[in-house]
Amino acid sequence: MDVTTPILKCAKLCVGYGDVSVMKDISFTLERGKILAIVGPSGCGKSTLMRVLGGLDEPMSGSCELLGVDLSQADSRAREATLRQSGFLFQGSALFSSLTLRENIEMPMREFLKISSSQIRQLAEYKLACVGLSDAIDKLPSEISGGMAKRAGIARAMALDPEILFLDEPSAGLDPLTSERLDDLILKVRESFNTSIVLVSHEVPSILHTADYCVYLDSDTLTMGAYAPPKDFLDPKSHAKAHSFFSRVVTPK
Ligand SMILES: Nc1ncnc2c1ncn2[C@@H]1O[C@H](COP(=O)(O)OP(=O)(O)OP(=O)(O)O)[C@@H](O)[C@H]1O
Ligand SMILES: [Mg+2]
Repeated sequence: MDVTTPILKCAKLCVGYGDVSVMKDISFTLERGKILAIVGPSGCGKSTLMRVLGGLDEPMSGSCELLGVDLSQADSRAREATLRQSGFLFQGSALFSSLTLRENIEMPMREFLKISSSQIRQLAEYKLACVGLSDAIDKLPSEISGGMAKRAGIARAMALDPEILFLDEPSAGLDPLTSERLDDLILKVRESFNTSIVLVSHEVPSILHTADYCVYLDSDTLTMGAYAPPKDFLDPKSHAKAHSFFSRVVTPK
């Protein structure tokens, strides 16, 4: 792939289920190596959009290119090759509960990589070391904390060295300090591997710290309200709803 090809390019994208549209008029281009945050009220369609961007679901209309390939038009070979370049952390992490962290990370490698078992073992150890979980490598998901499970989920999403990672609410349910460490991990992954990252988040400090761009989904108009660097939404003259999302200040009682 040409390195100048955008990692994602959407034009008039409409996503939904059956003939019910959830969000429409989504248009933006994201360069490689950038971090995009998808933001908006609960139920507005963030996870739905993420699944379409990652090629897991078909758009209702419009186009969406991942690494220059329009997955809804591509033949099955091009589609499969492109899908191999994306890693997913689904909302709620979804590790296999009966497998240790090592086995969880090794599973996609065993399925897709034609390398020896000892190389797979080494790679899994490396991925878990990247997310600071070397000591928990032989633990089951039930034996680790929520923050560790998120990090293990990221390690599994990174198992096949994807060009792009899709992280659906990676810091949901974590305390502020653990959440901050997860932000640093996300930035480290981008810096070390030049991985592009799309994340869904409700946490303003985290979005401002990590994201280069932000898509704000407007649940009243069911359209993309705005696309800009998140710090732009701190300006009162920016998109009104995105601004109120970004500038909500809690006054102590
Ligand atoms: N599999 C499905 N079939 C039909 N409708 C669905 C399906 N999944 C989600 N929806 C609907 O699509 C809309 C958007 O859901 P989605 O999960 O994308 O929202 P979200 O912005 O990710 O919400 P949250 O912030 O709570 O995670 C909702 O109205 C939801 O009920
Ligand atoms: Mg969601």
